[in-house]
Amino acid sequence: MPAPLQNDTFLRACLRQPTDYTPLWLMRQAGRYLPEYNATRTRAGSFMGLATNPDFATEVTLQPLERFPLDAAILFSDILTVPDAMGLGLTFAAGEGPRFARPVRDEAAVAALAVPPPDKLRYVFDAVSAIRRALNGRVPLIGFAGSPWTLACYMVEGAGSDDYRQVKTMLYRRPDLLHRMLAINADAVAAYLNAQIDAGAQAVMVFDSWGGVLEHRAFAEFSLAYTRRVLDQLKRENEGQRVPAIVFTKGGGQWLESIAASGADVVGLDWTCDLGAARRRIDDAVALQGNIDPMVLFSSPEAVAAEARAVLDSFGDPRRPDGRFGGHVFNLGHGINQHTPPEHVAALVEAVHAHSRALRQA
Ligand code: CP3
Repeated sequence: MPAPLQNDTFLRACLRQPTDYTPLWLMRQAGRYLPEYNATRTRAGSFMGLATNPDFATEVTLQPLERFPLDAAILFSDILTVPDAMGLGLTFAAGEGPRFARPVRDEAAVAALAVPPPDKLRYVFDAVSAIRRALNGRVPLIGFAGSPWTLACYMVEGAGSDDYRQVKTMLYRRPDLLHRMLAINADAVAAYLNAQIDAGAQAVMVFDSWGGVLEHRAFAEFSLAYTRRVLDQLKRENEGQRVPAIVFTKGGGQWLESIAASGADVVGLDWTCDLGAARRRIDDAVALQGNIDPMVLFSSPEAVAAEARAVLDSFGDPRRPDGRFGGHVFNLGHGINQHTPPEHVAALVEAVHAHSRALRQA
């Protein structure tokens, strides 16, 4: 039997239940801004050396929690494990970002794609179980995957991209090929997230990091439709608890209504949106996650605290006059920058907890 949860504030906010304060965690909270992460990565030899070893993955998942009273842990892994398991040959060259040895550019490469056998990703599910044991009920564990569209961007481009020229060429020239790839990605991601849930993930997040580069009709057809295909297949309950699903589309604020209607429990927003206005647009039909600009962390600790209070104030009191609740999970609007001073993260966490408690006393 898994240990009972000592802090369920994050899960309660995801499900729009009352909480004493606004929970927070940070996208990419385990990573290169922490010297202890860099030390473990050196021991492991490479990013994949870290991610494929459940002991190392557990160690770095817990590192940010040892420093800061965060309200959730996130599995240490990467969205690109799934295309790697499909045989595309993932490497992370130091300082360069991800690269695939065999990008998917033509009809034959798309025809060869398939949902990877679960054994190829066993190291991820083993890491989830090991992290759950190590957490021992301290905070919930979030599992994650890339959205079918965001994975397709990396699979076709073969690396990060400024203009998405290759994948958009496929989109406009051979939409049939892209649809085939997205359907396989969606089924692969659904199976991958369900296996993480079986291994102990208590919430799951879909990172649609590049949904915001799509033209608005293309977003509905090539990104959101396949995120929905993932959500439609997810196990939504485990250990007698709802497993909330979070969908984060970077640059997706203008599509909030349609993302909120996709079956997500929580919609992640970047810093370009006003949370109060977002709440009103969807009448608190889902919880919201976000959305401070990660670059705020480069100002002074006092300025970080003031910006955090402004984000909380923009969401406002989660209690509604009609007795329902809005849910807010505080987060950054995108991943934490590797040059962030850790002391400024401490100031952020402290300000979010203190000010959100005060808001509820008002
Ligand atoms: O949030 C966490 O702490 C959990 C771990 C996590 C990583 N990647 C570890 C990582 C998560 C949730 C991700 C998701 C991810 N990976 C996304 C979606 C989120 C986003 O930022 O939009 C994307 C697009 C990727 C792909 C990826 N992985 C890139 C572009 C890079 C290189 C750029 C960078 O930020 O370093 C990675 C490598 C990576 N994934 C690192 C970490 C800690 C750094 C690698 C290293 O240690 O050398």
